[in-house]
Amino acid sequence: MSKNKNNKPIWGTRIKKSSTSLFKKIGGSLSIDKRLFNEDIDASIAHVEMLFKQKIINFKIKNKIVWGLNKIRNEIIKKKFLYDEKLEDIHMNIEKRLFDIIGEDAGYIHTARSRNDQVITDFKIWLKKANKEIVKSLDAIINNILKKADKNIETIMPGFTHLKNAQPVSFAHYLLAYVEMFNRDKKRFNNNLGGLNENPLGVAALTGTSFNIDRFYTTKKLNFKNPTKNSIDTVSDRDFVIDFLYSCSACAIHISRIAEEFIIWNSDAFKLIILNDKIVTGSSIMPQKKNPDPLEYLRGKTGGIFGNLFSMLTILKGLPLSYFKDLQDDKELAFKSFDQLKNSLIILNDILKNFSADKKRMLELAESGFLTATDLADYMVRELNYPFRKAYLQTAKIVNFAEKNKKKLSELSIEELQIIEKKLTYDVMKVFDLKNSINSKTSYGGTSFENIKKMILSYKKDKK
Ligand code: ARG
Repeated sequence: MSKNKNNKPIWGTRIKKSSTSLFKKIGGSLSIDKRLFNEDIDASIAHVEMLFKQKIINFKIKNKIVWGLNKIRNEIIKKKFLYDEKLEDIHMNIEKRLFDIIGEDAGYIHTARSRNDQVITDFKIWLKKANKEIVKSLDAIINNILKKADKNIETIMPGFTHLKNAQPVSFAHYLLAYVEMFNRDKKRFNNNLGGLNENPLGVAALTGTSFNIDRFYTTKKLNFKNPTKNSIDTVSDRDFVIDFLYSCSACAIHISRIAEEFIIWNSDAFKLIILNDKIVTGSSIMPQKKNPDPLEYLRGKTGGIFGNLFSMLTILKGLPLSYFKDLQDDKELAFKSFDQLKNSLIILNDILKNFSADKKRMLELAESGFLTATDLADYMVRELNYPFRKAYLQTAKIVNFAEKNKKKLSELSIEELQIIEKKLTYDVMKVFDLKNSINSKTSYGGTSFENIKKMILSYKKDKK
């Protein structure tokens, strides 16, 4: 803490004994919150400018403080600032340094504010930037997926349910599913800006202040939209942290799902995609191995991001109003999730640039497992006027027949098909063509090549 003339922390005037070294250690958060220095200085400058405008401090003092704060900002940027762990956090470090530089007048800076509102103001400003930065990273991911999708519109693969071959699908359609997910993530991060646009500065410790401050002025100066409305809620609220941590978790789920999907597709059992040597690792004993480590890393790191969300939820559960030390951990959790998510998005982007579809193998797998069975049932509904359940039954019998005779559906002759459903004519043969199957799925959101082309265009347009 900042020391006064008697070398006591600012808050230590009534506390006769100095904290144990253990408490000093656990009480501090400098190593975590020092990354808020810029936001802290911006908020302090807005605060003293407001104090001056409201005639709470005079022009000379305001200028002195602003000058001192800018000097401190420079020192920190140039790595010339001497941090003192004993001063608890970045806020007290900056305040103490201001005393060193401009003397007693530094003491005016903390008029009509408390660290409680100061910290959340800095944190909210930081989180606004963090949300925007993640949105940018997501744009890069979406861009790369769209590029891959563009090249794979006509790449046919089996679509899976239960990891069993289900129906033929365009590989691009699969990839675009992830564009949907990452677009939802973008929306979530953008939505978070709403809560972050309320300015906490000026609620002081918990009740507001008796000084004639202008919270609308600092709101404008710091690019918030409105001041918060209840001083007690303001210093207790960490919903905006939960929102951020949840958004990170949902995004991490998507990263983890695509990672898992790629691990399966790259496995020797599936062999649907090939990973460039740049994104695999070897084994120390098995010379033949090429392991998808970076994908496993992405899947694994998701756990930590969930953990941060659960820590924050648990900290808040049952916590009475208003400020408690418990809340100090909010920043560490948000910083950790942000750093990890950004890193994961960079890695995912690299992976997206370094894999390719094994088109031959995809087609081969799509040709096994009777993937066009549903198309046959649909055909009977359309052409033979059967209710779907009857068509389903007839198709199941045909699949059983094919399986017994070790044939694909497309390898059955019309005579064989007619043993089970005598109304079928040669015209039915077209439904066993995988391309036809895909292109028949023209319903909105379906996998037909035309649909996909339109979707890619519309995603590209959305980006502009
Ligand atoms: N470093 C602390 C935090 O981030 C500052 C808040 C201090 N407030 C207080 N009442 N002790 O939570």
